[in-house]
Amino acid sequence: MDFLIAREDLHSCRFDELGAPEPDAGQAVLRVERFGLTSNNITYAKFGEAMSYWDFFPAPEGWGRMPVWGFAEVTDTRVDGLAPGTRVYGYLPPSSELVVMPASVGEQGFVDASPHRAELPGAYNAYARVDADAIYDADSEPQQMLLRPLFFTSYLIDDFLADASMFGARTAILSSASSKTASALAFLLAQRSDVDVIGLTSSRSVDFTRGLGVYDDVVSYDELDSLGTDPAVYVDMAGDAEVRTAVHARLDSALAHSAVVGATHHDRMGDVPDSLPGPRPKFFFAPDRVAKRTSDWGRDGFESRLADAWGPYLQWCEGWLEVLDGQGPDALKSAYLDLLDGRIDPAKAHVLALPR
Ligand SMILES: NC(=O)c1ccc[n+]([C@@H]2O[C@H](COP(=O)([O-])OP(=O)(O)OC[C@H]3O[C@@H](n4cnc5c(N)ncnc54)[C@H](OP(=O)(O)O)[C@@H]3O)[C@@H](O)[C@H]2O)c1
Repeated sequence: MDFLIAREDLHSCRFDELGAPEPDAGQAVLRVERFGLTSNNITYAKFGEAMSYWDFFPAPEGWGRMPVWGFAEVTDTRVDGLAPGTRVYGYLPPSSELVVMPASVGEQGFVDASPHRAELPGAYNAYARVDADAIYDADSEPQQMLLRPLFFTSYLIDDFLADASMFGARTAILSSASSKTASALAFLLAQRSDVDVIGLTSSRSVDFTRGLGVYDDVVSYDELDSLGTDPAVYVDMAGDAEVRTAVHARLDSALAHSAVVGATHHDRMGDVPDSLPGPRPKFFFAPDRVAKRTSDWGRDGFESRLADAWGPYLQWCEGWLEVLDGQGPDALKSAYLDLLDGRIDPAKAHVLALPR
């Protein structure tokens, strides 16, 4: 079963039921067990065309399979060294099954070398075996599906800002502060004694965001004229043109850097006018930072730093994050449409599964 979204109208979605796939020589079938769903996946759909997210998992003409992160098990394999029953974590379609063409098969996992994925960013093509994964822990699978890709990005941004000495500022302003990506970044930045973290959020989420305890201050979008004007960096998870303009206008030359990370407010985006005060917003491209730190620290060094940072973060999330476990197509469709339209309780997040 595949969950399909119309590329031209993200509200239009359906399920296709196909027969069980047969692997060709060199291929394996992964049974998609469970996956997480947050606004990050909506952003994959929104930028499906522009950033090639639709290209990972081919679908019928005009439709897309929105990528998700989750766990899968090898059920059928015609690949040397990859046994049935092997469990992996990685980038998956919202489907019951995925056919992959494993390459570089080893103790750590494998890379899907299917020709249609060859030109896509390598970080999305790797599947980590759970029995050799430094972050894997059987008791926190839901949290790994939901938070791992978000925390990974936040870790890279925190490191990027520290590496750039916060562009000379000591305040970080984060939009969509109630999102998991923003709060993960705030959690990391809060450990730096010389950084103040200000969260911007919708008025309905101010109390929740304050309650997280990782922001020095929380300001609602309708009170941006109360924002301080000390030198600051802006990390934009919302992608909201009005919020961006207000932050840039308020800080103007005191804005030391403006990083574009997300687009949770995907229906309120807009072009960046030449007249925007302050620095030009710059897209934060995570793969560049992965390449830099892998070269600086080595792959093992990078992964062990990440694993060290993950433990305390996971423990902190246990204090506020409620996982909603959903089974079947109806649960998936309603969770997807709720996220698409912003009907979100930021304290909760969906983990879903489709029948075989
Ligand atoms: N560039 C990268 O590599 C990268 C990696 C990871 C994540 N991201 C991006 O970071 C963003 C956050 O992702 P997440 O999974 O952490 O989000 P999440 O936890 O699901 O975020 C929920 C929050 O997002 C805002 N929101 C979501 N949908 C909305 C809508 N339709 N209308 C208005 N507000 C909406 C609300 O926050 P507020 O009320 O506080 O605005 C809501 O509380 C996404 O855009 C994601 O793509 C980027």
